[in-house]
Amino acid sequence: NKINAGTVPPTTSVADHMYNQPFVIGVAGGAAAGKTEVCNMIIQQLHDQRVVVVNQDSFYHNLTEEELTRVQDYNFDHPDAFDTEQLLGVMDKLKHGQAVDIPNYDFKSYKSHAFPARRVNPSDVIILEGILIFHDPRVRELMNMKIFVDTDADVRLARRIKRDTVQKSRDIGTVLDQYSKFVKPAFDDFILPTKKYADIIIPRGGDNHVAIDLIVQHIRTKLGQHDLCKIYPNLYVIQSTFQI
Ligand code: C5P
Repeated sequence: NKINAGTVPPTTSVADHMYNQPFVIGVAGGAAAGKTEVCNMIIQQLHDQRVVVVNQDSFYHNLTEEELTRVQDYNFDHPDAFDTEQLLGVMDKLKHGQAVDIPNYDFKSYKSHAFPARRVNPSDVIILEGILIFHDPRVRELMNMKIFVDTDADVRLARRIKRDTVQKSRDIGTVLDQYSKFVKPAFDDFILPTKKYADIIIPRGGDNHVAIDLIVQHIRTKLGQHDLCKIYPNLYVIQSTFQI
């Protein structure tokens, strides 16, 4: 149990804990708020880092045959629609340096096994993106930075109508019915209340270049601290003094 001066105990060191861990960013906000655009801009600006995106959509539960026959009655915006245990399992593996296969969700067939899974390797930065990604405290606890993309409801609805009719081949009546029955109430009841957990709230999503620049600057500073820990693990002492 004797610890030499200047060395760090292997399992209890703060530095050891820090420098092995990826930097995890959570990106939440209503459907069609511009979350994907924000993620893409962050990835673009962090081109010299290994960054992966894990979408909450990949963890939608598969529907039963009965649910499939009455899909218009299924609430895809409720927290129970997602398999959060599976998401936590994936994050646990990535944080321990293991590659994982993440399902690709098909919005047309409502199935997560319709496409081959996507292999994701451990990375320096993991972006966790989804409408309800701040809902479960265990998922929130994984995050080093939380971003809420705040876009007006009319903009989100207009984008959704365009996206669902063009990309998902749904008719406009179905899109509007789903919006008033499930999407809007779930936004008010479950998504909007998670805004309070955000470290940063971005108005206008991906159009907000100033916000994205500031976020990327902050991530770079934090990654620099991670890198310092990798090079100088004994910085543990300095870290505990100055609470980096
Ligand atoms: O990508 P985004 O975060 O916008 O996706 C979430 C939205 O996808 C939810 O508002 C949900 O209603 C919708 N959705 C859907 N059909 C599915 C699964 C999700 O319309 N099969």
